[in-house]
Amino acid sequence: MTTMSPNDNQAFFAHPSAIIDDGAVIGDGAHVWHFAHVCPRAVIGRGCVLGQNTLVAQGVRIGDNVKIQNNVAVYEGVELEDDVFLGPSCVLTNVSNPRSQVSRKAMFEKTLIRRGATIGANATVICGVTIGRYAMVAAGAVVTDDIPDYALIIGVPGRQRGWVSRHGHPMRLENPGAVVRCPETDLRYTLEHHARFHCLDIEEDAPLPVPLATGMVPYRQLNSRKSDRAGNS
Ligand SMILES: CC(C)(COP(=O)(O)OP(=O)(O)OC[C@H]1O[C@@H](n2cnc3c(N)ncnc32)[C@H](O)[C@@H]1OP(=O)(O)O)[C@@H](O)C(=O)NCCC(=O)NCCS
Repeated sequence: MTTMSPNDNQAFFAHPSAIIDDGAVIGDGAHVWHFAHVCPRAVIGRGCVLGQNTLVAQGVRIGDNVKIQNNVAVYEGVELEDDVFLGPSCVLTNVSNPRSQVSRKAMFEKTLIRRGATIGANATVICGVTIGRYAMVAAGAVVTDDIPDYALIIGVPGRQRGWVSRHGHPMRLENPGAVVRCPETDLRYTLEHHARFHCLDIEEDAPLPVPLATGMVPYRQLNSRKSDRAGNS
């Protein structure tokens, strides 16, 4: 077991109460906070944040700049691409039909959370699904199926309620081929063939330009329910 203090000459920070097992790999600039546990063979990318009381199970692969909020366990079978955000106390799973009497350790089911996706606070992801790039799962939702890129998923069971921009704003399309702009950034988006929502200005796998990487306007200032309803009535 290795623990590190802020004064150790390490390329990442780990709070002294964190447990980092031998054989875990943690990227430069990462922060591992109080009581986190990183198991052997876990690989965590650069600039990640593991909040208080998080677990990264053995062999789990996590990309760069992933933010994991407090009380989240990333179990075997789960893979997180770059820039994923896991909200506080969200639940990831790895067996669909768990039974205490039946060991399924050799057959954990895969869940892939793709680049830039967000899982809201207290949401649950049933294993075996792929969550698309920049998808947004609302707080408390239960994900049971694959989710397309940029989809907004709300409720129990989770249902798609529209699309969101890379900055997490609802994108309302007048018609499927329309071009819509994110109110915060002016980036343009469209829906192709009734299925593929994507950004016209920045490739999904390209990093955000630095000026767009800091929030500029609070969510409710652009998306207040009252103004939405007035506009839609
Ligand atoms: C997804 C989210 C951004 C939507 O917020 P919003 O703009 O207030 O949503 P809307 O006003 O467009 O709501 C649309 C509908 O969904 C409902 N709704 C919104 N969020 C919901 C949620 N989390 N669960 C269930 N229903 C929800 C609204 O009541 C509304 O219902 P109606 O059409 O019957 O009136 C927000 O719910 C959310 O979950 N954000 C994530 C917060 C989080 O987990 N942060 C973690 C970091 S601290």
